[in-house]
Amino acid sequence: MKKLKRIGIITAGGDSPGLNAAIRAVGKAALGTYGMEIIGFRDGFRGLAENSAMRLDKRALAGILTIGGTILGTGRDKPHKMEVNGQERDMTDVIAQNYRKQKLNALVCIGGGGTHKNAMRLVEKGLNIVTLPKTIDNDIALTDSTIGFDTALGIATEAVDRLHSTAHSHHRIIIAEIMGHRAGWLALGAGIAGGADVILIPEIPYDIKAIAEAIRRRSKHGTNFSIIAVAEGAMSKEDAAEFAAAERRKNLAQTKSQRKRARTELTVLNARHSGNTLRLSKQLEELTHLEARVTILGYVQRGGTPSAGDRLLATRLGTMCAELIQENVFGVMVAARGDGARAVPIAEVAGKLKTVPQNHPWINSARRVGTSLGD
Ligand code: F6P
Repeated sequence: MKKLKRIGIITAGGDSPGLNAAIRAVGKAALGTYGMEIIGFRDGFRGLAENSAMRLDKRALAGILTIGGTILGTGRDKPHKMEVNGQERDMTDVIAQNYRKQKLNALVCIGGGGTHKNAMRLVEKGLNIVTLPKTIDNDIALTDSTIGFDTALGIATEAVDRLHSTAHSHHRIIIAEIMGHRAGWLALGAGIAGGADVILIPEIPYDIKAIAEAIRRRSKHGTNFSIIAVAEGAMSKEDAAEFAAAERRKNLAQTKSQRKRARTELTVLNARHSGNTLRLSKQLEELTHLEARVTILGYVQRGGTPSAGDRLLATRLGTMCAELIQENVFGVMVAARGDGARAVPIAEVAGKLKTVPQNHPWINSARRVGTSLGD
């Protein structure tokens, strides 16, 4: 008799809407269609290191499709650098041992950029891994989109819509800071959909004078308010040049001390960048003599029930994931491609960032409707 497959599943990195829909899809297809057994590990890679597992039977998978967050819990721990009893330890071998102790045939890792790098470390240890791309940032290579992006896009768009009321009633500049880490997908998408007047993304470093000029132009035509959608990673041309130089120094560093110095330099620049949106608001008040206010959307963008689009995506990718495991296809991410899904090597995804290309149709459309991109 053919032995039943036993698979494990984790969610890792920041939570995002649609994680439970993905767990459900993998689980239901694995249990129902292929007769596999499935167990979940708690809190991402930490659960694997601590062997903290829960059985995912039909009951555990019922009723979770519409629920935000993840029933498994998540975390940003890395297998090779995990804090254990106050000390940083390499737990990759422990994870591999637990995988074998649990008699797993495969492990599903649902996560973003960091998760793919970590999953690759486990592939290198000989574990059978299949990943699913999730992040509200939409910045994972080789997939059309990621689980969570559509919901976050809807939330950020609604926020930009609502901010119009105060902006036009008070004749103010309202700046909405939108997540996205180092990519501008969310800010660009929500900015266009919400009709922002200025959209600032990391891929297009801005010139503060050009932004002020765009706002002044609107005032001249009788519109005394402006909405700015700014990605959390957006920066001025000067700051972008400083970051690029520091990155270059880090990449060229040959000695341990050079590397350490370059890393410290980047940490300082990142810390300084965290107050960027507030600084931007002050600078624009000075240059335009209009009142400016900042709204940081933050974790609201990651919360709540997933959109229909994210539920569909999670179900499409999750069911294909179970099919790939059944066919013994491992070391791959299930990528969204058009209306379907495709397996791509994790090795080609790990460490890559999908940013907005300069000639992306969204950028062209934004410019054509008269939106300033701050350049
Ligand atoms: O990757 C998703 C994301 O929400 C980013 O947009 C944001 O920069 C980051 O996570 C915040 O991370 P944390 O949850 O660790 O604060």
